[in-house]
Formats: sequence, structure tokens, C-alpha cells
Amino acid sequence: MKRVLFAALPVVMFATVAQADLVGKPIPIGIAVAQTSNVALLGEEEVIGARVAEKYFNAHGGVNGTPIKLIFQDTGGDEAGAINSFQNLINRDKVVGIVGPTLSQQAFSADPIADRAKVPVIGPSNTAKGIPQIGEYVGRVSAPVAVVAPNALKQVLKEHPGIKKVAVLYAQNDAFNTSESGTFQETVKKMGLQIATIQKFQTTDTDFTTQVTAVLGAKVDLAIVSGLSADGGNLVKQLRQLGYKGPIIGGNGLNTANIFPVCGQYCEGIIIAQAYSPSADPKNAINKAMVKEYRDKYKKDPPQFMAQTFTAVQVFVEALKKVEGVNKKKITQMDLAKVRVDLNKQIRTGTYLTPIGKISLDKEGEIHQENFYVAKIKMNPDNKTGRYDYVK
Ligand code: ALA
Repeated sequence: MKRVLFAALPVVMFATVAQADLVGKPIPIGIAVAQTSNVALLGEEEVIGARVAEKYFNAHGGVNGTPIKLIFQDTGGDEAGAINSFQNLINRDKVVGIVGPTLSQQAFSADPIADRAKVPVIGPSNTAKGIPQIGEYVGRVSAPVAVVAPNALKQVLKEHPGIKKVAVLYAQNDAFNTSESGTFQETVKKMGLQIATIQKFQTTDTDFTTQVTAVLGAKVDLAIVSGLSADGGNLVKQLRQLGYKGPIIGGNGLNTANIFPVCGQYCEGIIIAQAYSPSADPKNAINKAMVKEYRDKYKKDPPQFMAQTFTAVQVFVEALKKVEGVNKKKITQMDLAKVRVDLNKQIRTGTYLTPIGKISLDKEGEIHQENFYVAKIKMNPDNKTGRYDYVK
């Protein structure tokens, strides 16, 4: 009799402790993105997207009346920072799920930690091949390179049908850039064009003379750059400064207005595929509300990373509501471990009407999204600010 009692005790204690994790508090969701380092050029927009989402969803009743609370962790730009942030959010802050990290390179290291702890992750900007396959608990709202990147190439060929020779440049120390460049190279070949030169660099590089000299020597009609904001921006700048005059496609890592001060006047005309358009669908009420909030504060249109992060928070909020529906219980009355497991399941059901359009996540956690766009950078006369003009 005594032995049975002892055996049952730890289970009872565990259940009590676990329930106390969520009881009587707003529902904690982790946001682990880069707020410092070079990668903050991308992560900054994600922080804004998350904050706008928190305000929006709490103003609209949170999770069936319970507010959400976002808990921010700065991952910096490397793997160690992402791992540390994930551990803090999972074990110390006891979040129900995590939005992050900013880079695919970080996701390949940090996501397995969440996966082992059975904590759902939604990548807001991880576009490399293989992200949802990291594990059962890993999903994303950032469409993969294979789906997004070819759109830019198709658009450039429409505008410049005479293109034959292409230079491909990419940051070889970064998983996403390597993956994206692979997609660009495949698409170039499929379109019957010639890859005249492939140039590699590091995300930490600032001098691209060697690569640019090779591009000029190859006399190409198009240059495709896969880099992370600062390195990519500097590379574009040096291509132009040293005399390259043809069109330039930038990859997803250049998809931020934060590169404008980096390449200045030389950002003009860079063509970038987009998974978001601020004005694509006038009937999209949630996008309209998000755009208004952003425009009122920042006096410009929201960027893709911001919209995708808002979307990631939205998926969590709506899936949390579904968890309550299925369990007929408030999240705050449930065991944290059960909430995490059920939440992961519910994320992968149904569709979401989000600022990036109607989306769903399949069983594997991969996003299915209806529309993609292409934009061209237009710089202002101050050569520090500019905008993305949507051409498709
Ligand atoms: N799309 C970039 C990545 O996946 C930011 O790393």
C-alpha cells in the first residue's frame, strides 16, 4: 500500500506543478529572433511584426478571452544564441510555442532542441530546403526558396528577354544562402540560360573585389546575389561601383529596407521575389488592419519579414483557440506539456486568413500559400531611403 502511494506521488506533484505554469497568466509565446548582430537587419522587422500581432490579437480577445504575452529572446546572428534563446524560452519561461529563429542556419541547430522538448516552433523567415523536416514540432510560415526564388528570375526574363549568361553569387557559410543559390542555379539551367560564373563569399565579408572582377570578366547579362542583408548589400554596391550595369536579382536575405543604407544609390533596381504584398488583396481585412497599424507608426508599407512574423503569431493564436475547443478547457487550466503537444497538432489543421493571404500548414509543417510577388527597389533622392515597387 505504501509503495503504491509513493509511486503515485511524483505523478500528482508533476501535474500540479505543470498546471501552475499556465494558470492565471496571459498565455506565453516565445519570440526568438535576432535583435543584435548583422542579422538584426532582418530580425528588427520580425520584432515589429510580433509586437503588432500581440497588440492586434489581444485587442480582439486573445485566445477566447485570455490574452497572449510574447516573451522576446535575442538570438543574435549565430547558432549558439539561438540555442540559448530556445532553452530559456522552453525551460525558464515555459512558453507554449516559439516563433523563430531568424535564419535557417540557426534553425538547423536550435529547432531540434524544441523538437526534443515537444515544443512547437513556427519559423517566420526560414526559407532553406529541409526546415519542416527537422522534426515533428517544426513548421514555418515562410515559403521555401524553391517556391519563391524562381519568381524573380521569371520576371527579369520578361523584362530582359535577351539574357543568356548569368553570374550566381552566394554566401557559402550560410545554409539558407547555399540552398537558395542551388534553387537559382537549377532554375537558370531549366530556363536554358548559361551559368557563366559561380562566386562564393562569407556573410562576414566586406570586400568583394575578387568576386566582382570574376563577374565582370565573365561578361554576364544578369547577376543573382544570395547573401544576408549587409554582405549582400555591400556586394551589390561593389558590383555597381566597379562597373556592372546589368540587372541584379537579390535573394530573400536582401528583402529588407534595412539594406538601403548599405548599398545606397546602388540598391536601385534590385529585383526581389516576395511572399507578401501590402496591397495585393483589398478584401483581406486582417492585412488591411496590420498595414494601417504599421503605416501609422512607420509612415511606410510593412515589409515581408514583419508580415510573416505577424502571421506566425496569428497561427499560434488561432491554433490555441482550437486546442481549447477540442479539450473543452481553457489553456490556463491545462497541463503545459499537453498544451504544447495539442497545439502542434492543431497548427497543422485548417486554413488561416492572414496578412500573407490564405495559408495552411501540412502534416510536416510546411506552408502552403497561394500568391507570390516580385518587387523592384526604388531609391529616394536621399539615397538612404526607398521602397519596394511591386512589378508582379
Ligand atoms: N530566409 C533567410 C533564411 O532562411 C533569412 O535564413
